[in-house]
Amino acid sequence: MGRRPVRNDTMPPKKIIVVASGRGSNFQAIIEDFQRNSIAGECIGLVTDNPNAYAITRANEAGIPVTIVDFTAFESRELYEKGLLLALKNAQPDLVVLAGYMRILGKDIVREFAGKMINIHPSLLPSFPGLHGQRQALKHGVKVTGCTVHFVDDTLDGGPIVLQRCVRVMDDDDEEILSQRILIQEHIALPEVIRLFCEDRLKIEGRNVRIL
Ligand code: GRF
Repeated sequence: MGRRPVRNDTMPPKKIIVVASGRGSNFQAIIEDFQRNSIAGECIGLVTDNPNAYAITRANEAGIPVTIVDFTAFESRELYEKGLLLALKNAQPDLVVLAGYMRILGKDIVREFAGKMINIHPSLLPSFPGLHGQRQALKHGVKVTGCTVHFVDDTLDGGPIVLQRCVRVMDDDDEEILSQRILIQEHIALPEVIRLFCEDRLKIEGRNVRIL
């Protein structure tokens, strides 16, 4: 049976900003989910730290405004963080979605968007946080891995978990094949969490996120 969207017409649609650094396949999955489904929200912009990110092309094709906060154009990491914070604040989003943002966020941004920022990570957290979650999983020899969507806090990939999806690890997997298998699940998990957020169905209780 299909998912039944919960719409509350008395509430304004949620404004979603996506932050991505590169290919943007998760961003594309979000765009298509908004196009396919009736969602109580809209994707109001893409913010990227990388002027060459393919995600920009995807945004242009979908008519989504792009803000480039070019990391290399700033004299210091602190100034870059200030620029990024300003770009995000100016958009006044209800939710910031990190979809392949390849930098660690500064504390000011994390604090500003506490409870309003989610990230997708390619492992079953708390296993294998940080870079190359898929490579770490292969190296460790796990038989099951997957992806995690979590709220962002000031720990590395350690915030409250909203949703996880599993994939099996096959004996002859390499990093690329495993990454592709996980990516298919990422493209399901991230839009699903955004829909839940738009429907006001996520409640953070300490480390637990209840889906109402
Ligand atoms: C994904 O694997 C995501 O989990 C990780 O970075 C990758 C981004 O892929 N954080 P894409 O740019 O969405 O295609």
